[in-house]
Amino acid sequence: MKFFVDTADTREIAELAETGLLDGVTTNPSLIHKSGRDFMEVTREICALVDGPVSAEVVALDHEGMMREAEVLRKIADNVCIKVPLTIDGLKTCRKLTGDGTMVNVTLCFSANQALLAAKAGATYISPFVGRHDDNGFDGMELISDIRLIYDNYAFATQILAASIRHPIHVLESAKIGADVATMPPAVIRSLFRHVLTDKGIEAFLADWAKTGQSI
Ligand code: G3P
Repeated sequence: MKFFVDTADTREIAELAETGLLDGVTTNPSLIHKSGRDFMEVTREICALVDGPVSAEVVALDHEGMMREAEVLRKIADNVCIKVPLTIDGLKTCRKLTGDGTMVNVTLCFSANQALLAAKAGATYISPFVGRHDDNGFDGMELISDIRLIYDNYAFATQILAASIRHPIHVLESAKIGADVATMPPAVIRSLFRHVLTDKGIEAFLADWAKTGQSI
């Protein structure tokens, strides 16, 4: 499973990229707002920090407007992935852009039928929002599972990008179901490394090593 980080904070992205485990970045207008940075400038910087896809979202609601914005965004770098909402205009834009060889991430997916439409429109990625689905009394993981089944039934190449991930269990379940990618806030990625028994084990080994009086 690929790991994307869901942030526009370049300091966090740079740190996580150093682990060698980061495969891409996703942003959205709320994350750009949170960064307090200029959209074009911060997106350019992020694209230089990672080799993998960097999702940058359009804000126009009509097809022509989305195409105009996508034209501006895709000039930033070769690894820009245009993010469009799951609407009729968004999917029209998706079909046009992927037809031209541009990566597209279809966002704000809350049903398996929407995911089916995105795959038919040639999306590179579909982003089901598991956390927001859970928040509203639906089962985010069931959504991922249904999409996996449908995509496998028809051998769709669209990659399932589990988004709106809130905790490590979302990551674990997504991996068990076979989501292609998980995009996570930096804190969730960091939490995956940690285990209390790992920390305790290191502490005990170091204490015993000190008693040997040796060095490597
Ligand atoms: O980038 C889309 C998605 O991951 C947003 O997550 O936590 O705002 O629901 P959240």
